[in-house]
Amino acid sequence: MNAPRGLLEAAFDRAFAGLREAREGFALQLAPREVGTITSVATGIAKVSGLPGVGFEELVKFPGDRLGIAFNLDEDEVGVVLLGDYQDLHAGDEVERTGRVMDVAVGDGLLGRVVNSLGKPLDGKGPLATDARLPVERPAPPIMDRAPVSVPLQTGLKVVDALIPIGRGQRELILGDRQTGKTAIAIDTILNQRGANVVCIYCAIGQRASSVAKVVASLREKGAMDYTVVVAAEGNEAPGVAYVTPYAATSIAESFMEKGRDVLIVYDDLTHHARAYRELSLLLRRPPGREAFPGDIFYIHSRLLERSTHLRQERGGGSLTALPIIETDAQDISAYIPTNLISITDGQIYLSPTLFELGTLPAVDVGKSVSRVGGAAQRAAYRAIAGDLKLAYSQFEELESFARFGTRLDESTRRTIDHGRRIRACLKQAESQPVSMLEQIVVLLALTAGLFDPIPLERVTDAEQALRRAAASIPPDVAGRFGSTNKMSDADRKATLDLAGQALASFQPPAAAKAADKPSS
Ligand SMILES: Nc1ncnc2c1ncn2[C@@H]1O[C@H](COP(=O)(O)OP(=O)(O)O)[C@@H](O)[C@H]1O
Ligand SMILES: [Mg+2]
Repeated sequence: MNAPRGLLEAAFDRAFAGLREAREGFALQLAPREVGTITSVATGIAKVSGLPGVGFEELVKFPGDRLGIAFNLDEDEVGVVLLGDYQDLHAGDEVERTGRVMDVAVGDGLLGRVVNSLGKPLDGKGPLATDARLPVERPAPPIMDRAPVSVPLQTGLKVVDALIPIGRGQRELILGDRQTGKTAIAIDTILNQRGANVVCIYCAIGQRASSVAKVVASLREKGAMDYTVVVAAEGNEAPGVAYVTPYAATSIAESFMEKGRDVLIVYDDLTHHARAYRELSLLLRRPPGREAFPGDIFYIHSRLLERSTHLRQERGGGSLTALPIIETDAQDISAYIPTNLISITDGQIYLSPTLFELGTLPAVDVGKSVSRVGGAAQRAAYRAIAGDLKLAYSQFEELESFARFGTRLDESTRRTIDHGRRIRACLKQAESQPVSMLEQIVVLLALTAGLFDPIPLERVTDAEQALRRAAASIPPDVAGRFGSTNKMSDADRKATLDLAGQALASFQPPAAAKAADKPSS
C-alpha cells in the first residue's frame, strides 16, 4: 500500500512543479494592434476610418497582406494609396497599422536582377541575396556633403560627349516626342559603362511589360546586366506602385553611392510618373491645378532629383547621375511637366522627330540641348575641339535652311554648309554601338581640322569608320593623355592629325583639290 502511495505523491509533485514553472515563466504580453475599417475603395485608393494614430506615409496592411500608404490624413478619415491589387478589397474590411514606412531591398545582391518597387524579384530567379533595406523616401544629401561635378560620365555617343557632356553627379533630362530614341540614348549610356566601374539602375515606370522585357534582354545580351539593376512598375499596375517606384529605385542607387561607388540612374519615364500621381491626387480629391496636376507636382520631382549628387571625399566620394526621361506631346517643350523638369535638372538633351525622320540618329537637336555643369567635367581633349565644333554646326544649321531654296551661294557659305553636312554625318551613330573616348577624339579632331571636307558626303560614314579603326594605332601614352585632365599638347594634336590624314587619304577623290576650287552653280 505504501509503495503506490509514494509513487502517486511523486507524480503529483512533478505535475505541480511543472505547473508552477509554467506559471512563473508566463508573462502577460499585450501586442497593441491598431485596426480600422475600409469605408470605400476606388481605383488605386481606399478611404479608411478608425486609424487616428496613423502617421503620414505610414504603411498600412489590408487583408491578404496587401499594403497601402497613408497619404491624406483627415480628422476622421485617412486616404490610402494602394500598392497592388485592389479588386477584392471591400468596404468593411480590416486595415491594420504597421508603424513603419515603406522600404525596399538594397545591396549588391540586386545586381543583375529585375525587381519591383517593394524589392520583389520579377525575373523568376529566386529570392534576392540581400538582407539590407532602406526606406524609399530619404532626405537628399545636405549642401555641405556635396562636391562639384568633376568627372565625366561618358555616354559613348559622339554628339552627347562632345557637345552636351554629362558629369558624374549631374541630372540631365532627355526629352522628346514618342519614338524619337529617348530610351535608346539611356540604354546606350548604360552599355557604355561596361568596364567604367559605374553601377546602373534602370527604372521603368508605366511602360508596357513587353518594352521592359526588350530592354532587359538587350542589356543581358550585351553583358550589361552584371552591373545593372532594373526596377520596374508595369503599365497595368496600381497608380500607387508607379508613384513609389522611382523613389524606391533611388534608394537602391543611394545604397551604392553611399559605399563610394559611381551610380547612374535612368527614370523611364517621369511623364508616366506625373500622370500616376495626378490620378491618385484627383481620386483623393486634392484640388487640380494647371493641366489638372496637383499643386505639389513640382515638389515630387524636385525631391526625387535632389537626391542625385556628387558626395564629398569625406562622405565616400560616390556619385549619383540621373537621366530622367520626359515624353513631350507634339514637340511642346513648354508644357507644364517638361518645363518643371527642365528647371529642376542641370540641362537637357532634346530629341527632334524631324531629325529622326531624316535619319539623323541619334536625333539630338543640338541647338535646343544644353548641359549646364558637364562642361567642367569634360576631358580637356574634348574641350579643345567642342567650341569650334558647336559654332560650325550652329552656323551650318542656320544657313542650311536658306540653301534649301536653291539660292546661289557664295564660296564661304558653301564651304560652311559642306563642312556642317560632314559634321552631321560624323555625329551620326547607330544604336548600341558606343564609341570609345579615344576614337571620338580622333574623329572630332579630324573633323574640326577639315580633314573630312574633301571627302564626298556619301563616303563620310565609311571614312569615319576607317578612321576609328585607325585610332587603335595611336600610341598608348598619347591615348592616356587624351583621357587625362591635361590640355592637349600641340605635338599630340599634330601626331593624331597626321595619322588621321593617312587613314582618310584613300577616301579623297583624285581630283579633290580641283573640285574644292570649282564654284557651285
Ligand atoms: N541611333 C539609332 N539608330 C538606329 N535606330 C535607332 C536609334 N535610336 C533609336 N532607334 C530606334 O528608334 C525607335 C524608337 O526608339 P526608342 O528609344 O524606343 O524611342 P522613345 O523611347 O523615344 O519612344 C526604336 O525602334 C529604336 O530601335
Ligand atoms: Mg522609350
